[in-house]
Amino acid sequence: MDPIKNPFSPGAGTPPPELAGRKPILDRAKVCLGRIMAGKSEKSFLLVGLRGVGKTVLLNEINKIAEEQGFKSILLEAHEDKRLPILLLPVLRQILYQLDRMEGLSEKVKRGFRVLRSFLNAVKVKYQDIEVGLDIDPETGTADSGDIESDLAALFEAVAEAASDRNTAIALIIDELQYLNELEMSALIMAVHRVSQKQLPFVLIGAGLPQLVALTGKSKSYAERLFDFPPIGALSRQDADEALLEPARARNANFEDAALKEVYEQTKGYPYFIQEWGYQAWNLSPTSNIDLLTVQKATQQAINRLDESFFRVRFDRLTPSEKRYLRALAQLGDGSQRSGDIAEELGVKGQTVAPTRNNLIKKGMIYSPSHGDTDFTVPLFASFMRRMIPVEKFETEKQSGPTT
Ligand SMILES: Nc1ncnc2c1ncn2[C@@H]1O[C@H](COP(=O)(O)OP(=O)(O)O)[C@@H](O)[C@H]1O
Ligand SMILES: [Mg+2]
Repeated sequence: MDPIKNPFSPGAGTPPPELAGRKPILDRAKVCLGRIMAGKSEKSFLLVGLRGVGKTVLLNEINKIAEEQGFKSILLEAHEDKRLPILLLPVLRQILYQLDRMEGLSEKVKRGFRVLRSFLNAVKVKYQDIEVGLDIDPETGTADSGDIESDLAALFEAVAEAASDRNTAIALIIDELQYLNELEMSALIMAVHRVSQKQLPFVLIGAGLPQLVALTGKSKSYAERLFDFPPIGALSRQDADEALLEPARARNANFEDAALKEVYEQTKGYPYFIQEWGYQAWNLSPTSNIDLLTVQKATQQAINRLDESFFRVRFDRLTPSEKRYLRALAQLGDGSQRSGDIAEELGVKGQTVAPTRNNLIKKGMIYSPSHGDTDFTVPLFASFMRRMIPVEKFETEKQSGPTT
């Protein structure tokens, strides 16, 4: 069929033609935001799930809902090599400018700028390269101790008070939260705790890989009071069918039942893969009726494309010993494995590979589904590793190289 009319959209954060199976979580976001806007307290949430399940797409939707409800909304993405204060400073400054431009003069907004300036001064000591223009004197003694846990709370409070003074609310939406370090995560939680205690109109909504939950570590009890961690996962068979059928039918095309069944078997219901299979099957189909044979042909193309992009970008960021560790994990089969068995597969002690394992968790490649277990954060990555490093090559590498 005409590739120009192809509705399917594999890609990080790319909105799908049909956002299947996510109504409950979006309804929940609407209620949460609505209550915060109305000055009521409400437990917020951090979406937790593997790569490619649709977390970023959901955060984009939630951002839109927040803006529709009149929030000053900020959507940002945490990075492995960008610290939280550096991410927050420019966006909070921007929010304050928006609040400043509203009608009349607000002392609270002016104070917001002064506290932001104090925070900036303290942060500058650590990150000399930071450039945020702020033509205002600091409020000395507030948010400038250099201890991010207390400073961030003071900053959020001042900014939230400014928003409250303008009869609006702030939604801070952060993607890839697992890239924060433990101290930043704790500071973020303490800061949200502060604004929520004071019933200020400020809400944090986030998303991240499963390691995010463990990262809340020392602020765990606060985190549990402030947030739920709704799991975002693969789609049910019914929702997966809808994700394919709705866009097809809207363009006078169709998937046969056997074709739908085959896509589900191949993709296990993971949204990214559904888009990829839908995309390939559409282009390959000789008629507007997509059948089993077409899907079978699409499978090879879909896997090739994933190997070149979705999987490949992650593989290329690995060191040789990290690749070996992941290959050993894949050797044991699909799904979660005992960490001890992985070390054994490599012929070493658990302690020897512990640093490699930790780095892989930090890089967002693997996580620990329960104590002593390890699994990939990318669905179907085990079979990709087996394709990339055939077993003979893996055996040779095990013999030759040290494993860390
Ligand atoms: N509910 C859904 N139904 C169908 N496709 C979806 C759904 N959610 C996401 N997708 C598709 O899945 C892919 C990955 O989405 P993304 O938000 O980047 O995932 P994540 O942030 O969890 O890695 C995108 O191509 C998107 O269009
Ligand atoms: Mg994402």
